[in-house]
Amino acid sequence: MNQSREISSSQQGLHEHLESIVLKHMAHPFQKPVQLHNQQAFEAFLQVKQRLNLEGMLLDSCCGTGLSSYRLACANPNKLVVGLDQSQSRLTRDTEHLHNLPANCLLLRANCEDFWRLCVEHGITFDKHSILYPNPYPKAKHFQRRWHGHAAFPLLNALAPVIEVRSNWLIYIEEFAAAWQLLTGQKGTTAEIHPRKALTLFEKKYAASGQALWGFGNGAFYTID
Ligand SMILES: C[S@@+](CC[C@H](N)C(=O)[O-])C[C@H]1O[C@@H](n2cnc3c(N)ncnc32)[C@H](O)[C@@H]1O
Repeated sequence: MNQSREISSSQQGLHEHLESIVLKHMAHPFQKPVQLHNQQAFEAFLQVKQRLNLEGMLLDSCCGTGLSSYRLACANPNKLVVGLDQSQSRLTRDTEHLHNLPANCLLLRANCEDFWRLCVEHGITFDKHSILYPNPYPKAKHFQRRWHGHAAFPLLNALAPVIEVRSNWLIYIEEFAAAWQLLTGQKGTTAEIHPRKALTLFEKKYAASGQALWGFGNGAFYTID
């Protein structure tokens, strides 16, 4: 596996406009029109949800090749695990776990922001929502591409009562924690994590390169061995 370089950024602390941007997004609901392929992915999800009728659901946003979704589904056979990623090529990679997906694991090619919005509009909630190693966008000018700087961020409050975010960039996690507190009033926990077994492919790559891994959440972090 290739060595992965640590994130370098000229931004050395929380983004200077974090608070004003998050508050602006909280005051103005995300209203961009939903793209057709995301609507179709949502409808496919509704059908599977109805057909399986399981007792709970986990959402795994930005799942990449879906390794974490696969592992969560194996560990939680009574829950429907929905993995979302915008990249068709990642979701169709020739890997062992994709050839062996359990029935309670649904991987969808969709943009998270549209899927989240459709869920919230339909009153659909998940037991827990994970966003594991989202693209960090380390340039300060790209702050609004980070999930906590995105116009869709306020949707997260209605999507799942429990959240977990992981990153190899501590600033991303600290910013997410600050934004989450603005959104929900909850402080949550920020911690260095030491997974015994990598939950995702990026986690595996970062850990193999000796990088520190950081988590934010308002519940117990996933431990799946
Ligand atoms: C750094 S990768 C991490 C993948 C996986 N979670 C892991 O840890 O191996 C980030 C993933 O986010 C996906 N992504 C980025 N923006 C997205 C969006 N708006 N909606 C859905 N997926 C997105 C990318 O396609 C990519 O697979």
